Amino acid sequence: MAALRVGIVGCGGAGAEHARAYRALGDRVDLVGVCDVVAARAMALAASAGTRAFGGFDELRAAERPDLVSVCTAEGAHTEPALAALAAGCHVLCEKPLAATVADARRMVAAAAATGRTLGIDYNYRHMPAFAALRTEIASGALGQPVLAQISAHAFCYHHALDLVRFLFGEVAEVTAWVDDVPSRRDFPWSTPEEFLYVPSVSVAAVLRTRAGATVCLAASRLRSLEDTLLDVEVLGTAGRRALRGLPVGDARPRRVEVWPADPDAPARLGQSAPESPAFSLSHAFRASVAAFVDALTAGRPVPTDGRDGLAALLIDQAVVQAHRFGTVVRLQG
Ligand SMILES: NC(=O)c1ccc[n+]([C@@H]2O[C@H](COP(=O)([O-])OP(=O)(O)OC[C@H]3O[C@@H](n4cnc5c(N)ncnc54)[C@H](O)[C@@H]3O)[C@@H](O)[C@H]2O)c1
Repeated sequence: MAALRVGIVGCGGAGAEHARAYRALGDRVDLVGVCDVVAARAMALAASAGTRAFGGFDELRAAERPDLVSVCTAEGAHTEPALAALAAGCHVLCEKPLAATVADARRMVAAAAATGRTLGIDYNYRHMPAFAALRTEIASGALGQPVLAQISAHAFCYHHALDLVRFLFGEVAEVTAWVDDVPSRRDFPWSTPEEFLYVPSVSVAAVLRTRAGATVCLAASRLRSLEDTLLDVEVLGTAGRRALRGLPVGDARPRRVEVWPADPDAPARLGQSAPESPAFSLSHAFRASVAAFVDALTAGRPVPTDGRDGLAALLIDQAVVQAHRFGTVVRLQG
């Protein structure tokens, strides 16, 4: 099979991770070019990845005709390049969040449907060994019916946590929430409490009720210590309990795993006490996510996470904001 021709739009940290992830796929992929509105960034990534640099997507597309484009522009700048790539007949792997507004996210999902191209989203936390194993345990019924879950996240990880709720427990049906917001502390001017939080400026506490009847208490704050813990997850099921305590930044090995009833192998399955290894790094999560996307695309299977998953996470975030603003329970459309 001919190598998949891949281009990258946006050459910051995420663009460099995607480039490394494509390189790791060997001759299945030909990284034909990278582009950035800042020429020096495109040239630096092109040099390190052994490919060509371009000033923008139009130039890259005209010269190299990619089959697949990774959109790694900054938050709030995904829609334009993703729509241009889909219109040019390319598949797209978009960084999160899918878009800066729900309306833009809907336009992207509609464009993928209209062009018949695949729009994927890089929810790479699903590919971290601890979360993949936790999902397998929940799906296997080892915990019985999940009843109550508690997730504590650093604000930087709030968007990934919303996606992990869907990954672990399925679709969210109802939301209620309280938000503490200080406008001057917002990182992203487009993520206002009128649309969605994306990265809460101070704190958010939300209660999410899933369609399957589990209740998830999700708390995220800028006031957590990033060095200490990015994420804690506890799941209580009718037949068992798992808790992953303290996933540090850049090393997805939980510091402590709690298991009930006793299962001596479970802590190791969930990554506790694993030797330090690149398999637990954020780079590995990027590689695993990109590889899973390419595998599915080339095999003609549904990709692990597509534009509808990106839209779904934004709709939960929007429901959180509305629940807080209107002091109500927000029901998500089925
Ligand atoms: N999934 C993850 O774990 C993860 C981790 C880090 C970042 N990200 C996401 O990746 C995206 C990029 O993050 P980053 O840290 O690399 O940002 P960044 O600001 O370092 O890089 C973005 C680059 O895009 C360029 N750019 C902007 N508009 C462009 C356009 N129209 N055409 C070409 N280039 C353009 C900018 O000049 C910049 O170099 C964000 O959405 C972020 O949330 C995801």
